[in-house]
Amino acid sequence: MSNELCPVTTDVARAARVLSSGGLVAFGTETVYGLGANALNEVAVARVFEAKNRPHFDPLIVHIADREWLHRLVDEFSPAATLLADAFWPGPLTMVLPRREIVPDLVTSGLPTVAVRMPNHPLALELLTAVDLPIAAPSANPFGQISPTTAQHVLDNLGGRIDLILDGGPCEVGVESTVVLMTGERPCVLRHGGVTVEQLELVLGPVDVQSSVDDDGAASNSTSELESPAAAMSPGMLSQHYSPTTPLALLSNVDVRSVVGKRVGLLRLVRRPATTGSIDEFAAVETLTEDGDLRLAAAHFFAALRRLDARGLDLILAESFPDEGLGRALNDRLLRACHR
Ligand code: TXA
Ligand code: MG
Repeated sequence: MSNELCPVTTDVARAARVLSSGGLVAFGTETVYGLGANALNEVAVARVFEAKNRPHFDPLIVHIADREWLHRLVDEFSPAATLLADAFWPGPLTMVLPRREIVPDLVTSGLPTVAVRMPNHPLALELLTAVDLPIAAPSANPFGQISPTTAQHVLDNLGGRIDLILDGGPCEVGVESTVVLMTGERPCVLRHGGVTVEQLELVLGPVDVQSSVDDDGAASNSTSELESPAAAMSPGMLSQHYSPTTPLALLSNVDVRSVVGKRVGLLRLVRRPATTGSIDEFAAVETLTEDGDLRLAAAHFFAALRRLDARGLDLILAESFPDEGLGRALNDRLLRACHR
């Protein structure tokens, strides 16, 4: 699979050497592939922004394999944070915590906090242990595009711009980690992701869910947007992200008469003909699950979106997911993927 510019490997020691010497390594995690650099090396971190073509600097998640590094990066680890770490690490949970001096400003965008996560993937954990450094890693996609869930996705989109890909196979969770701000009185979900609000509340009791600042740096409120009439009329008002090249819209927002004569694709959770309204022929259909299991839907989501995007369609229509559990993270990604 490798090309001459960018080897794809399962050789952890080699990947660790590249990272230690300031290189960029994309690596598989259970959520999506990350584009990793030594978090303590500002030049390496700057190369991450450059490779992704991010138009501005946003704070990155720092990945660790053990709590020793956590205490070197983080100033204060509250009892609530300990409970969450015990319950969900390693796993798709990122905690935003007070940072120590050692963390470069470029990683935190100058914020007094740092986002930390321990990924639940054997190869990623091996890599972090071998390199014995905290690794800053945003999702390994060019700015604004679909997040990668296989090594091939990374190779297709960033192959010429990074040093190595550590192939961890297809990502099992398939959506990014849940980001939780831990500095206030009550934990606050900044981004829906692989750990659901319901799971967090089982451990901690009630948590807040707030307007988030996503990777575009634009403010948006991911849960209320779905219900808001403004968003329903104009998904383009939302911050655009995770986007295919083909225009994408929510099935429920589209007047079926407006798509007559167009090549339209459909992304849906289950085979359920009634929901496709009066559009009788789709040029391509991706059905994420047989039975509506949201975990499977999440695992298949970004790859299905890529396949539809590769079909040269005029439009992709997507069904909304149930607004519960992982469905919230999926709806959030769907809304951000809608074209302006
Ligand atoms: O699953 C994931 O989280 C993947 C894998 C690679 O670990 N990473 C990922 O990174 O999605 P990225 O850069 O695409 O998203 C990082 C998110 C952004 O929404 C960013 O605003 C937020 O984390 N974030 C990072 N540091 C923060 C901080 N100090 N305060 C608030 N939000 C922060
Ligand atoms: Mg991202």
